[in-house]
Amino acid sequence: MKSPLLGRFALLLLLPWALLVAVVLDSERGRARAPRLAAPRRPAPLPAAAAPAPAPAALPTIYAITPTYSRPVQKAELTRLANTLRQVARLHWVVVEDAAGRSPLVSRLVAGAGLPVTHLHVPTPRRYKRPGLPRATEQRNAGLAWLRQRHQHLPPPQPGVLFFADDDNTYSLELFQEMRTTRKVSVWPVGLVGGRRYERPIVENGRVVGWYTGWRPDRPFAIDMAGFAVSLQVILSHPKAVFKRRGSQPGMQESDFLKQITTVEELEPKANNCTKVLVWHTRTEKVNLANEPKYHLDTVNIEV
Ligand code: UGA
Ligand code: MN
Repeated sequence: MKSPLLGRFALLLLLPWALLVAVVLDSERGRARAPRLAAPRRPAPLPAAAAPAPAPAALPTIYAITPTYSRPVQKAELTRLANTLRQVARLHWVVVEDAAGRSPLVSRLVAGAGLPVTHLHVPTPRRYKRPGLPRATEQRNAGLAWLRQRHQHLPPPQPGVLFFADDDNTYSLELFQEMRTTRKVSVWPVGLVGGRRYERPIVENGRVVGWYTGWRPDRPFAIDMAGFAVSLQVILSHPKAVFKRRGSQPGMQESDFLKQITTVEELEPKANNCTKVLVWHTRTEKVNLANEPKYHLDTVNIEV
């Protein structure tokens, strides 16, 4: 007679625990699901009558050329950049180290970046490593040379877009959607640059007619390196267009380069007629290493 009563009593005792376990399990599953929900959404299946969406293979490849040099924040900058670029479809990252060889730090980082990468290196000659001189000239040219070499024996060239992605800027994912449709040379605003909150091409009737800038408005193209993209076709049809050391002042590299491949009238405004900031010329604060010991004190060697 005791056992049915005991059984019911035990059930009453266990029920709240069983419910609790169920709730916890469910929330764990939810957590596991969360990243999948956050992943880029696939387009909903098209209704039968609609035109088929272009296959992903038809997307032009974006070649992002990133010059980079060794300094305390290098790994942090490249990690942040890789985390952005990894989310962009059909993007090929061309990392060009300002160094005599490929460093183990960058080699490891790009190997685990989770996207197609080409890792090049070229050192900046010492005489050009001075404040007030343009940076990354040789590295961007190495990227351009690699791109031309890769495509010169592939007629007709695959559709592609070139973009110079410095390692310290901040890039929205929307920026890559915008630049993907570049026909020749496209332009858009850049935030936090030129001593203002932003610089931008001024657009009238779909054409660039001037520049909103606070710094050297006399520049033929008053635009930062992060403010334009060039189609692969244009790069291949202007094989001599490069960044120049001779006669180039800091801040004029963009103009000097763009002058060789396009005109202001030809520019294609992106980002809603250049009214949206999708990239920021953020600069990392110099790190404080005042308490770093002169000689290695720690018991382990840690890559930072
Ligand atoms: C501005 C522009 O945004 C750059 O595109 C331009 O190259 C630069 O001015 C210039 O003066 O030439 P800023 O933030 O002052 O940018 O330059 P950094 O971000 O310090 O350098 C631009 C890129 O070159 C970065 O990707 C950086 O890693 C690389 N770099 C810099 C080198 O590869 N070697 C160096 O010695 C310095
Ligand atoms: Mn920078």
